[in-house]
Amino acid sequence: LVGQNGSGKTTLIKLLTRLYAPDRGRILLDGTDLREWDEATLLQRIGVIFQDFARYQMRVGENVGVGDVGHFEDEARWRDASDKGMASDFIDSLPAGFHTQLGKWFNDGRELSGGQWQKIALARAFMRSRADILVLDEPTAAMDAQAEATIFEHFR
Ligand SMILES: Nc1ncnc2c1ncn2[C@@H]1O[C@H](COP(=O)(O)OP(=O)(O)OP(=O)(O)O)[C@@H](O)[C@H]1O
Ligand SMILES: [Mg+2]
Repeated sequence: LVGQNGSGKTTLIKLLTRLYAPDRGRILLDGTDLREWDEATLLQRIGVIFQDFARYQMRVGENVGVGDVGHFEDEARWRDASDKGMASDFIDSLPAGFHTQLGKWFNDGRELSGGQWQKIALARAFMRSRADILVLDEPTAAMDAQAEATIFEHFR
């Protein structure tokens, strides 16, 4: 979906993920109005990365794991999701890998580059392994050209 700044792309995503309710009209999924879906069931079907994604003051693996709180501590799932988000290579180069503390709230917390944070946020979206709808709002805006090309190739 392509459009000028402020044309409503992010707003549409918030409607599709039921964070906003439409004033008029309706959005159907498998023939049923989004408003009639059980919210937990609906959210399990959707993986999403927002343009203004969160940077949690937690360990790397937890930053990924929070994408599916039922598997928050599942290290195998962290790895799988990070492979899909193209984040594994740089995570492996961190001093404690997935156990590296991130953020400046902590004395030993590491700061990451903008693109590295975005790779973690993308991996988080892939934690919803049962999701059959993946919504990516400018998921590579902060990434280098090579990472961007790889992610879109993989995504297709
Ligand atoms: N939380 C909000 N409350 C009120 N208005 C908002 C809010 N978020 C966005 N808007 C307005 O809604 C319109 C659409 O914004 P939106 O963020 O959906 O655009 P976008 O197409 O995603 O733009 P961009 O390319 O800059 O990401 C804009 O005019 C914006 O000012
Ligand atoms: Mg936007």
